[in-house]
Parts: sequence; structure tokens; C-alpha cells
Amino acid sequence: MPVIVLVGAQWGDEGKGKATDLLGDRLDYVVKFNGGNNAGHTVVIDGEKYALHLLPSGILSPGVVPVIGNGVVVDLNVLFQEIDGLEARGIDTSRLRISANAHVIASYNRSLDKVSERFLGARRIGTTGRGIGPTYADKMNRIGIRVQDLFDESILRQKVSAALLTKNQVLSKIYNRSAVKAEEVVQELLSYVDRLRPFVADTALELSNAIDDGKVVLCEAGQATLLDVDHGTYPFVTSSNATSGGACTGSGIPPTRIDRVVAVMKAFTTRVGEGPFPTELHDERGDYLRKVGHEYGTTTGRPRRIGWLDLVIGRYAQRINGVTDFALTKLDNYDGLDEIPVCVAYEVNGVRHDEMPVNQTDFHHAKPILETLPGWKQDISGCRTFDELPKEAQGFVEFVEQRIGARISIVGVGPGREAVIERHSVLGS
Ligand code: GDP
Ligand code: IMO
Ligand code: MG
Repeated sequence: MPVIVLVGAQWGDEGKGKATDLLGDRLDYVVKFNGGNNAGHTVVIDGEKYALHLLPSGILSPGVVPVIGNGVVVDLNVLFQEIDGLEARGIDTSRLRISANAHVIASYNRSLDKVSERFLGARRIGTTGRGIGPTYADKMNRIGIRVQDLFDESILRQKVSAALLTKNQVLSKIYNRSAVKAEEVVQELLSYVDRLRPFVADTALELSNAIDDGKVVLCEAGQATLLDVDHGTYPFVTSSNATSGGACTGSGIPPTRIDRVVAVMKAFTTRVGEGPFPTELHDERGDYLRKVGHEYGTTTGRPRRIGWLDLVIGRYAQRINGVTDFALTKLDNYDGLDEIPVCVAYEVNGVRHDEMPVNQTDFHHAKPILETLPGWKQDISGCRTFDELPKEAQGFVEFVEQRIGARISIVGVGPGREAVIERHSVLGS
């Protein structure tokens, strides 16, 4: 039975949560392997909306064991708020497993995220302010706090004090903020221990055993290919590996056990935060897509930046992630358009680029070369098979498929769980 990795193809918010939910009743485990509560996944079930940040989207499927892998950074306050919110709506969260090796977001890292963004001024990244970057920086600097540290009070105290040795200097002397008291941080973290204990496990071992037993495992990325710290539009990225390689390091599942990679790609492009965006629209057409697509951040509520579909990015995502199947979402948001421009290549200083320019300056200067496809001007949200789609919509899907180098197996035609066309099974057949 397969192990599937599900990633975002663009700059996030492609509809990964909905795609995971769609597969939910065919899965045994859903593993979040990177990021933290910078993610925001909206899943709509029977008209009820669920916004998930830290918990894997699989938590909404009754048969699934949701796993927070070692590659995730965990804000414990957010974790228990999210658990309480779901429990209050009748969702059972007791199956959740959390890696003992996942890192914990301490309060000082939330403060540092916000204050460093303010100091960067015009050069800011536009982060979500959740402490994600500073927590991953601590992990790499080997001064991070891991979930397992909470179960040894003396170790926890030593680690927090060690981290604060330099951080308090930075907070007070560079950013003019008050120093943080180690004991307050320790007490806050200890206050979660009793609730945390039943969830904590050697998740890499559990997943290995589950795969041996033939269980179906889906590794669900937060963020997306162009927000990946190695392969994205650095420095305007998040601080983790959101591409398929991150699924291995962030879960402990080795590459030899991955069977399929599904990339979720929105039929247009959005971006939250700063950074280059070649197909960005600054006119009423962008405003229109933002309105029909309800494109406002799930995490911060910021209006998302909007642009045409970019197939240079689609091809890049296919190559970097080794995509076997794409899910093309939000095709229905084009229902009202006469024609649909799509970016097929870039022009940079008079030179055509069919692949992502390796040089960041070139990407900043890239102008989209657009091809225009006909619209269908009708409501497609009720279509459930490819043949039911208007010819123009079929043509759009096939055009995109030819250019990105992997089949489009799922087409999203509305926000609800049912509003989807499955052309091929992404579970292998
Ligand atoms: P994620 O971060 O990748 O999980 O995506 P978000 O949940 O942040 O943003 C995707 C939004 O699009 C959510 O509001 C979904 O309910 C919605 N959505 C997903 N697929 C479709 C689709 O095919 N059509 C429409 N109209 N909305 C969709
Ligand atoms: P999902 O999983 C869209 C963006 C932020 C910012 C940059 C760095 O819902 O697709 P961070 O707080 O991670 O250090 O911010 O990354 N960003 C996202 N944009 N969707 C997300 O997650 C994002 N997570 C982070 O806006 O530009
Ligand atoms: Mg999102």
C-alpha cells in the first residue's frame, strides 16, 4: 500500500487541506512534516468550515491517525486551542501522535519574529509572526527546545537558560526590548506537560511499522515549493523544506518507501507576504479573482496577492518534487471570465526563459509571456466527471497538463468536500 507525499506547487494556499480531506477515508495516517501554525488550511464539510493551522488536515477523517512529525515546530498554546476547538465541534482528536523530536516554539521566538520584521522595514519578509523562522534557526544552531525536553525539568531549565544567554542580549541591546526570565518560559512550557504526554511518541518508528503493515500513509506539506528554504524564492520563503524531500527528513520515512507525489496547484496563483511574483495582477482582474476565490489568508487575514497561472512554476514544481499527479484546484473561479491568460514562459531582458531563472535578480525582472485560452462562462461547480465539464474547461486542463509534465488527476470545482472531479486514483492505480 502506498506512501504518498502531498505538496503545494506554488506559494501556498493551493487547497492542500481539501485535497487531504478528499483522500481521508482511504488513508490510515496523515503526517505533517514541516512548518507550524504559519499554515492555514480551510476544509469545508457539509457546509461547515474548519480552519486548521497546526494539526494535520487528516484529523477531520475519523479513521485516520494524524501525526505531527519531527520536522514540525509546535506552538503548544495553539496546539491545545486547536484541539479544544475541534473537540467542542465533536471531532475526536485522541488519535493524534506528536514526535518527541519536534521542536517547540518558545515565547521569545514569537517576540523575535515580530521585532526582527519591524527592524527589517522595507526589507521585511512579511512573515506570519508566529515564531517559525527563529525556532528553526535555534534548531540549526542547536539551541532549540524539543518536545521530549519538556519531560525532564532539569534539562528543560538548562536548555532554556542556554538559549536565553544570547537571546536576552539581542532582545535588550539590539531591539531595546526587556529581557525574558528563563523561569517564566520554563513554567509556561511545563504547564502543558500533562496534556501533552499521551500524544508523544517515536513517530518515525510507528510510521515504519505502519508501512510494514501495509497501511496507507500521506505526508502533508505546509507551505509550498516556492516557499521552500532551499528551492523557493529565497529569502522570501519560510524556514523549512516544504518540497517532497522534506517529507523524508521531517517524518523519518526514507525516500525508498515513497511511492507517489501529489502536487496541489491552484488554477491561478496567489502569494501572501513579500517577494517576486511575475504574473501578479494589479488591476480589477486581480480584485475579481480575489473576490470570487475569497483569497484572504487563513492565518493572518491578509488579502492574498493574485496573478495568472504560471506554468514555468508548474514545471519547476514537477521537477523539484518528482510529481506523479497534480490536483488542479479552483477551476470554478474562472467561471465568469471570457478568456484566461496563462503564463508559459518568461522574458528577462529580451531573453526567453522556459525554466525558472536560477538567478534571483532575473526572477525579479521576469515578465510573463502569456497565452490566452477561451473561457466557458458557465457554472461548473456541479460537474463530477471530466466529460461533464464544458469543452473549454476540458481544453484548459489538457493544455496545463501538457505543459507541466505530469497528469492532472484531480480537478477542484468548488470549496466543498464533494466538489471535485477525480480523473485518476492518486493512490497508485
Ligand atoms: P492550503 O493552505 O493549501 O490548505 O489552502 P487554504 O485552505 O489556505 O486555501 C484554499 C482555499 O480554497 C480554501 O478556502 C478552500 O476551501 C478553497 N478551495 C479548495 N479547493 C477549491 C476549489 O476547487 N474551488 C473553490 N472554489 N475553492 C476551493
Ligand atoms: P499554507 O500551508 C501562504 C509565507 C508568509 C511569508 C513567508 C514566511 O497555508 O499554504 P513564516 O511565518 O513562515 O516565516 O513566513 O511565508 N507563508 C505562507 N503563505 N501559505 C502558507 O501556508 C504560508 N506559510 C508561510 O506569508 O511570506
Ligand atoms: Mg493555507
